[in-house]
Amino acid sequence: MRIGIAAPNLGEKELEYVTDAVKSTWISSKGKYVKGFEDKFAEYIGTKYAYTVCNGTAALHLAMLACGVGPGDEVIMPATTMIACANVVKYCGGNPVFVDIEEDTWCIDPADIVNKITKNTVAIMPVHLYGHPADMSPILGLAEEYNLHVIEDAAEAHGAEYHGKKVGGLGDIGCFSFYGNKILATGEGGMVTTDDDDLAKKLDSLRNQAYDPDKRDKLIHSGIGYNYRLTNVQCALGLAQLERIDEFIKIHRDNADRYNRGLGKGLILPPEKSWAKNVYWMYTTVLDVESPTVRDMLMEKLKSVGVETRAVFPAIYHQPPYKDSSSWCTVADWFGDRGLNLPSGNSTTFEEVDYVAEKIREFLEVK
Ligand SMILES: Cc1ncc(COP(=O)(O)O)c(C=O)c1O
Repeated sequence: MRIGIAAPNLGEKELEYVTDAVKSTWISSKGKYVKGFEDKFAEYIGTKYAYTVCNGTAALHLAMLACGVGPGDEVIMPATTMIACANVVKYCGGNPVFVDIEEDTWCIDPADIVNKITKNTVAIMPVHLYGHPADMSPILGLAEEYNLHVIEDAAEAHGAEYHGKKVGGLGDIGCFSFYGNKILATGEGGMVTTDDDDLAKKLDSLRNQAYDPDKRDKLIHSGIGYNYRLTNVQCALGLAQLERIDEFIKIHRDNADRYNRGLGKGLILPPEKSWAKNVYWMYTTVLDVESPTVRDMLMEKLKSVGVETRAVFPAIYHQPPYKDSSSWCTVADWFGDRGLNLPSGNSTTFEEVDYVAEKIREFLEVK
């Protein structure tokens, strides 16, 4: 048996829409599927605007630019996240500032944010890690108090909810990734969402070479923009996937429930706060052990029986370009050393979950 960590679930609908896009010959970033995907996504998240972009990193970069992040500016983010979050701040000449995560959500700790706000802070970037929402109310409160932007990184949390509202529609801008292992997958791809008319204009323009909409036919650009567009073919995939999102979220939630029943002793299971709907993008568990080497031994054992796993993100300040011991965060390091992503794709079956859980129990010698 070989069980991969996450694979997309592509069926007849995807094939039908992609074939239609190809047959139409609209294979670049114009065509009915671009608008169709954007409109339906905006409706799903509950925002006024949604714009497709070529990946989640581009989504975050555009968010930085639209919020005016520039040289010397600071953006506060959790220490535990994917490196793209920090890189996009650097692209703009700014500096990421790392905050610890909470032990019971594994997302940014609002209580630690306030300690890190300075006169240079421009934005807070909560990340809805592995499918669980960050605690947004105190973050939005701080943003209001200190006049900061809130850029939600919802790359890993399509359809997750905070107090019944979809993440990505709670801050100033929401950013999504549709990389092949995400709940909605277009191969590469991303989306930015917002309710704000001015931010929307900037996002839309910057992703498309900053064309001046009034002088488009004369090929005049009102600034320095980017080509961050997504193709009609990928949007055809995206629309088909979006029409199936309830099915995918059910698979993730059912599999998480199955893992939770099969695992327990020796492990800390993934959280779901009373105010949250966790979509369990990556089913994640933390080994309840002193020595981090046990996690690596378990990964080796699972590999030897055909199970692919992934260590959780190490805190960004351990990554070579960001090495900085003055940023160290206790929970982020505890989590980074002991956390493990288990197979949890859109096609993962109960049989696979049971097999993985059994191998883990064997390793931990839990009956
Ligand atoms: C939390 C987070 N942010 C941003 C990204 C970047 O997205 P992409 O790989 O589509 O550029 C990812 C991708 O995995 C992610 O997990």
